[in-house]
Amino acid sequence: MSYTSSTVCVPEVGAVPRHIAIIMDGNGRWATQRKLPRVAGHTKGVEAVRTTVEGCARRGVGYLTLFAFSSENWRRPRDEVSFLMRLFASTLERETTRLEKNGIRLRVVGDLSMFDASLRTLIQRAEAKTAHNLRMTLTVAANYGGRWDILQAARQLVEQTAADGRPALVDEASFAQHLAFAYAPEPDLFIRTGGERRISNFLLWHLAYTELYFTDTFWPDFDDAALEAALASYRARERRFGRATA
Ligand code: IPE
Ligand code: IPE
Ligand code: MG
Repeated sequence: MSYTSSTVCVPEVGAVPRHIAIIMDGNGRWATQRKLPRVAGHTKGVEAVRTTVEGCARRGVGYLTLFAFSSENWRRPRDEVSFLMRLFASTLERETTRLEKNGIRLRVVGDLSMFDASLRTLIQRAEAKTAHNLRMTLTVAANYGGRWDILQAARQLVEQTAADGRPALVDEASFAQHLAFAYAPEPDLFIRTGGERRISNFLLWHLAYTELYFTDTFWPDFDDAALEAALASYRARERRFGRATA
């Protein structure tokens, strides 16, 4: 499956979303409520990642994308940022075998040039080790921003033009093939935990016709029942893509 545009043609819609994209929010508040340091919420959040990955794979979801670190999260205290980097590295080290066993392909998407060489090596290894898996693609968006993605695609198109001297054909298909998510269909379902109702510079291009689901549940509390509630909400919707009601 590769990128198909919901604004160019109406996609097929099934009961199970082909692609779910999640903003995993509320780790800090989960911890603060328990009088724990904020970072304890991030550690606990890894368990919810595991549950969600396995719950989605079991239900036949083809692509799961998790927003782990935004291009704006560098604005956080330095200690929290470095904790998140270490947690990312240790989770990759610990969980890759499990992904491999479960038939899950891992992709990490974002501006990885900002990460330490050692973290980049861990990412490359985990991606290579799971590259042949077909059951589900798990994408971790790390130092990702929707605007970064659109700009890097635009830059690639401009460079192409410069290389062969002719202006590049810019349509949805040629543009989208340069976006970081060119290998995945557009998300059918977007979930944001933690109570905020905003996109926070996540997938800007791709959410054009995505169903949005917001829950007050903090990410560390997002369990299989919470995932099922989001999927039930999705199943109850009529996706029109601009058409009149059926
Ligand atoms: C989401 O939880 C995790 C990351 C952004 C890395 P937060 O850390 O944003 O938790 P809150 O929103 O402060 O509760
Ligand atoms: C979005 O959450 C980013 C991730 C979950 C990785 P934030 O907590 O950073 O979003 P804002 O700052 O509340 O919009
Ligand atoms: Mg937050």
